Amino acid sequence: MDHLISPSLLAADFANLGKDVLMVNRSQADWIHLDIMDGLFVPNISFGFPVIEAVKKISEKPMDVHLMIVDPDRYLTRFRDAGANILTVQYEACTHLQRTVTEIRNLGMKAGVALNPHTTVSLLKNILPFIDMVLIMTVNPGYGGQSFIMESYNKIEELRKMIDTGGHNVLIEVDGGIDTKNAAKLIGSGVNVLVAGNSVFSSDDPLNTIKRLKNLS
Ligand code: DX5
Ligand code: ZN
Repeated sequence: MDHLISPSLLAADFANLGKDVLMVNRSQADWIHLDIMDGLFVPNISFGFPVIEAVKKISEKPMDVHLMIVDPDRYLTRFRDAGANILTVQYEACTHLQRTVTEIRNLGMKAGVALNPHTTVSLLKNILPFIDMVLIMTVNPGYGGQSFIMESYNKIEELRKMIDTGGHNVLIEVDGGIDTKNAAKLIGSGVNVLVAGNSVFSSDDPLNTIKRLKNLS
């Protein structure tokens, strides 16, 4: 399959959020990525339900919602009702992960599991049959604009092998420090979905940057 692009709204202009969402609508992006931070799991707070609901009203792209919050089970139904299509929880934030991802699917969403840079992919072996996507964090979560961690390539290749040998129908998404320079190598390593924040929204021509990320040569 062709790889997918999911621009991260964390790097958008929050005073003109509608304008940036409409830009994503017009672009070749496949999804739109929303980062939810609670100030506990990560040392930053982003935005919550009112903003997700407002984006949902005008977004024509599936909403790829990345939860960086403790105990996400408390809010799964609310994220579904707010408009999430793909809901990703952090591995490190879930004590009963199989229950959490099963509930996400039962609510009608795709279920993703995100791994912090220090968390090994081998821990996913017994959860792969129950999920639709793994998000490899290629920076420590909490902020946009950080540098890509090079060790991520080894994790991606190891995970690609686990998914293929097990015959699982699971996408690999990467998030953090993704740009037009490292995108092709990431896709070559087995990535299916690229999240990009600053490289898109801080560029002179965001539409063209999305196009370049989508059409790698
Ligand atoms: C970081 C978030 C990312 C962030 C990526 O914790 O999960 O989605 O927006 O931003 P860039 O692409 O600027 O590294
Ligand atoms: Zn994210």
